[in-house]
Amino acid sequence: MGINLRSPAELEKMHRAGLIVWDVLTLLREMVRPGATTMELEKYAERRTDEHHARPAFKGYLGYPCVLCASINDEVVHGIPSPTRKLKEGDIVSLDFGVEFEGYYADAAVTVPVGKIRPELRELLRVTREALDHAIDKMRPGNRLSDISAAVQTWVERNGFSVVREFVGHSIGTKMHEDPQLPNYGDPGHGPRLQEGMVLAIEPMVNAGGPGVRVLEDKWTAVTADGSCSAHFEHTVAATSNGPWVLTRPRGVTGPSW
Ligand code: MF3
Ligand code: CO
Repeated sequence: MGINLRSPAELEKMHRAGLIVWDVLTLLREMVRPGATTMELEKYAERRTDEHHARPAFKGYLGYPCVLCASINDEVVHGIPSPTRKLKEGDIVSLDFGVEFEGYYADAAVTVPVGKIRPELRELLRVTREALDHAIDKMRPGNRLSDISAAVQTWVERNGFSVVREFVGHSIGTKMHEDPQLPNYGDPGHGPRLQEGMVLAIEPMVNAGGPGVRVLEDKWTAVTADGSCSAHFEHTVAATSNGPWVLTRPRGVTGPSW
């Protein structure tokens, strides 16, 4: 079984889903401030998704309880929104969100500073976002799948951070997770050749310290093993004959991925 190929009409549908994800994440980003709770973000995301007549992709997925993942500081991914946990100045928070709209999925994530953050964290966010930029640039017909993985790992490690191994990107389309998986590490030149119409959720997860992670007793929240902070940036991206198409943002937006 090869990787699913999406027609131009299907890509347009995925873009519709992607624009909803982008709209929600863009608004959530503006809500991030000291004193806000992650449950306030959850509630807003749920309401806005409903207004778009979309279905949240995460809630109920393998029993996940919310529409949003909100992972603070040493939390890597899958942080569960909490009504009591307040964001505070100097924190970073990763917001991961996906929807299904008319049968097609889109998935994206962004790590947001809470007020003023220390320089090392600014660097962590910049390098992780740039790793996603470099990875997106590899989404071209003719390249190999692991070229994307290698682009992430090379950029992250050259800048002194480390790549999480336990969680990976994935193909996406009429399901949130389709084969193959997309690790954020590996040598270039391996795996299937990318073709027009392939769609991948590319999602580097980068730790300021070592690469190790563990999952908390809630069975969801992944945290760094050494307590260092972690960042996560993600887009749903199609390979087209015109180059990479970032489906989780408006066509007019160019430049850095987030
Ligand atoms: N972006 C994440 C992923 O690709 C979101 C999954 S969270 C879950 O797997 F709760 F839905 F599992
Ligand atoms: Co994903």
